[in-house]
Amino acid sequence: MVPVPFAGMPEPDGKLTNPRILVVDDDPLIRRQLQHLCEQQGYPADVAQDATEALGRLQERTYSLVLLDVMMPGRDGASLLQEIRRRWASIDVIMVTAHGTIRGAVEAMRWGAADYVTKPFSAEELALAIRRVFDRRRLLDEIQSLKDQLAERYRFANMVSRNARMREVFRLVASLANTDVTVLVTGESGTGKELVARALHEHGKRRQGPFVPINCAAIPENLLESELFGYEKGAFTGASVSRAGKLESAHGGTLFLDEVESIPLTMQSKLLRVLEERTVERLGSNERTHVDMRVVAASNRDLSQCVAQGTMREDFYYRIAVVPLHLPPLRDRREDIPLLVGEFLQRHPLAREKGIDRISEEAMSVLMEHDWPGNIRELWNVLERAIVTADGHCISHVDVGMARGGERQRLPFASANQPLREFVREAERWYVQELLKHFRGNVTQAARHAGIDQATLHRKIRDLGIRAAAFRHD
Ligand SMILES: Nc1ncnc2c1ncn2[C@@H]1O[C@H](COP(=O)(O)OP(=O)(O)OP(=O)(O)O)[C@@H](O)[C@H]1O
Ligand SMILES: [Mg+2]
Repeated sequence: MVPVPFAGMPEPDGKLTNPRILVVDDDPLIRRQLQHLCEQQGYPADVAQDATEALGRLQERTYSLVLLDVMMPGRDGASLLQEIRRRWASIDVIMVTAHGTIRGAVEAMRWGAADYVTKPFSAEELALAIRRVFDRRRLLDEIQSLKDQLAERYRFANMVSRNARMREVFRLVASLANTDVTVLVTGESGTGKELVARALHEHGKRRQGPFVPINCAAIPENLLESELFGYEKGAFTGASVSRAGKLESAHGGTLFLDEVESIPLTMQSKLLRVLEERTVERLGSNERTHVDMRVVAASNRDLSQCVAQGTMREDFYYRIAVVPLHLPPLRDRREDIPLLVGEFLQRHPLAREKGIDRISEEAMSVLMEHDWPGNIRELWNVLERAIVTADGHCISHVDVGMARGGERQRLPFASANQPLREFVREAERWYVQELLKHFRGNVTQAARHAGIDQATLHRKIRDLGIRAAAFRHD
């Protein structure tokens, strides 16, 4: 037989060698026969007579494939298989089985064996099985490496996107990061403004310094000034110690003014001065401290409109919007949805724990059609809940549908203001009506679908004052 040429794998020294095989069998004759056949095919092979010796060899050198006898005295092949799959996921295993133990071999496939051959086997049979396993492995490796390349292409900092406008944003962020230019990030809620602000910080020369986020909308107006500027002891009642403000603590780093549109006009003029002079005066002090910081602001409003409406000073606007970056909403970059789903499944600890790595086509089309008013954050929330409810390795449309919960899905009767009894009754009325609508008034079918008997459904229909006849039409 002609040795099968097979694209080898590079050894650490870069030389191409054929993949190495480990033969595990307690029968010395078969062991030698298998080793010989492997080598005839051009694959270097070592042998082991039991599980202990096999594990020793696996620890010593790199193998691509194990030919494993199912029946061995001591620890059997199936149990060794499980350990190999767990510890060396990249090693394939072909089970070798005597005629009477085929069931064991089939079982072993479930534990992750790549194939099995039955004794007695011909050289061709074995060669074919080995080829198949190596071909499949090579394809999987190629797919993985293409996936990795794609993922890298579409990744920037903690963000992924294949959308042209987002790619342009990534490019700008990369080139702006090393400057001190003030950047204004705009975009709807949940589009990733904070991620962009962090990327500007982390890719720039100030990354060793602090990143100080301040949510201007979350701080009550009367506290904003002391929060930003800090105060000296005794500056006001309750100021029992001196405290630096956020502006000072951003020294050497980046100040992130989130929801910048909600800064009151008077505070805007005080901030303007800081931005122009890069100095800060604590409340109750007349000393000015120099602060060296980069400023990034974010807003989900169109700030030029705020200027037009008089809620934002024009000079303040120009000071923070030196370079505006706009993040498009998710509904305008739906091509990112599959990418984001993949990213989230990879990142989410529970998804990893449950081994969820896929989403059904139906579920994906639900996600593709949704308008995502809450953008990526909303997508994250939907997926998070879907991961919790998913059964198996794949997210189904049911998981996604249940989780969607957006305006369109809101139950027409849901209100927490009513007594529970009333709520349940209305929910039941809604349910029964939907059911009758679906089955065109056919109570028998509706009852079967609902998992209750017909008499019960009839009673409910009566009690709830529903006219089943109204749903009967052709
Ligand atoms: N391109 C992206 N790739 C991966 N994750 C993203 C991307 N954009 C946003 N996210 C994630 O979406 C969520 C929302 O992002 P972020 O908090 O940056 O949005 P935001 O625009 O600041 O929202 P808001 O206006 O509500 O404050 C975060 O969990 C973030 O990690
Ligand atoms: Mg934000």
